[in-house]
Amino acid sequence: MKKPKIFIACDTTNLKKVNRIIEETKNSKLIFGYKFGLEFLNSKKGRNFISKLKKKIVFGDYKIADIPNTSASAIKAVKDLKLNYITIHISSGLKALEAAKKVSGKTKLIGVTILTSLDNKALKEIGYNKDVKKLVLKQAKLASKAKLDAIVCSPLEIKLVKKVFKKEIITPGIRLPGDKKGDQSRVMTPKLAFKNGASALVIGRSLTKGNIKNNIQKLIRELK
Ligand code: C5P
Repeated sequence: MKKPKIFIACDTTNLKKVNRIIEETKNSKLIFGYKFGLEFLNSKKGRNFISKLKKKIVFGDYKIADIPNTSASAIKAVKDLKLNYITIHISSGLKALEAAKKVSGKTKLIGVTILTSLDNKALKEIGYNKDVKKLVLKQAKLASKAKLDAIVCSPLEIKLVKKVFKKEIITPGIRLPGDKKGDQSRVMTPKLAFKNGASALVIGRSLTKGNIKNNIQKLIRELK
């Protein structure tokens, strides 16, 4: 069987903590990639740290949400990091997605659908008049049209997204059984997310809070 692929969210500004995460995810039965989000990317030493990472799967979770020219320029500005993945909000619009794809080269461009922290009530508050599922489906079609390489959605929408998007489906909103949802809304366990067809999972706090090694063992047992 193929080894499950996990992007561990390195949501910290502490380099020691990131080094510990990298150290403790070695020699595991899982394939680990390292996801750096706005917190680490904007920290003083974050960019330099990433530039020195060797032979790792690196995911720059920039969550670009801007006009076409700025979106493409932002991607060009981090070319030197040779990232494996970069994220852009699909809500940036088709033209921005196409402009970003044009310059992303070997870096896989991931389209982010509706954030996993949002539910239907929150969408209404923003001004959307479609529910989560309808919006995610629409965005997945747009990602397909823009020839993006992957999609981020909640595990609850994998089956739906698969109907219109045929490449990688990466799902955050993952909690080990018994873990708190916290600020997330649309969540699922790792086992169920893979069962539903996720290509890879993004997991942060369920692995990085407390004892990382123990949490990874818990994840491996859960996936059996
Ligand atoms: O700690 P937790 O597992 O909830 O972290 C999830 C990670 O995935 C965070 O780094 C968050 O920024 C990211 N993410 C998300 N929902 C999305 C896209 C990215 O939670 N739709």
